[in-house]
Amino acid sequence: MTRLDKLLAQSGLYSRSEARDLIRARRVSVGGEIASKPEQKCADSAEIRVDGEPVNCARFRYFMLDKPAGVLSATDDKSQSTVLDLLPAELRRLGLFPVGRLDKDTTGFLLLTNDGEFAHRVISPRYGVVKTYLARTAAQTGPEDVRAFAEGLTLADGTRCLPAVLEPLGGSRCRVLVSEGKYHQVKRMLAAVGKPCLELRRVKIGALELDPALHPGGFRELRQFETGLIFGSSQCF
Ligand code: URA
Repeated sequence: MTRLDKLLAQSGLYSRSEARDLIRARRVSVGGEIASKPEQKCADSAEIRVDGEPVNCARFRYFMLDKPAGVLSATDDKSQSTVLDLLPAELRRLGLFPVGRLDKDTTGFLLLTNDGEFAHRVISPRYGVVKTYLARTAAQTGPEDVRAFAEGLTLADGTRCLPAVLEPLGGSRCRVLVSEGKYHQVKRMLAAVGKPCLELRRVKIGALELDPALHPGGFRELRQFETGLIFGSSQCF
């Protein structure tokens, strides 16, 4: 149970004192009942409305973003724009951060959350969440590259990679599935088989695909079942 003014401020839409003023002005309802006391204790799952409009007061929030090229996977930077700059002010107040990193020039599926435990489970190779990328390479990939990925590559600096999947898609295109996230991992794996990466886009995390309705820079909140898809068994390769 949490104080109503605290829950309402958790939405990112109001400061704690704005929340108190709204409650005292009897503009807030909890489970259909008008509230008047900021200190009223509510279940975290209570249905809260302001002026009749539902407000999402969940402690943890999860978003998918179609990251455009040229933007940093960081929460803030002195001189360059970050993925947080793509969000409106009320969402920037939620304490969201990117789950892992995509390189500045890599596009596609980036999760944003304020749930550290969730982020850890997505990133840590211990949980085996598969990330799927589409790549364009300077030379065509073939069966010998597929075998090298499946066996587990050794990168130029001696780093050993877990077994991964490479699927040539014809011409300069291929799909790469990895379950770890070392620095520049996919680009370095492709370089290790002599197929330098020219373009990289992440399209799937676990069994959850980036919503094709999003445009570069677009984002939306995950539906509840979608967080399950990230960790579902169908994501194994
Ligand atoms: N691998 C890379 O090389 N770059 C990314 O941005 C993500 C995975």
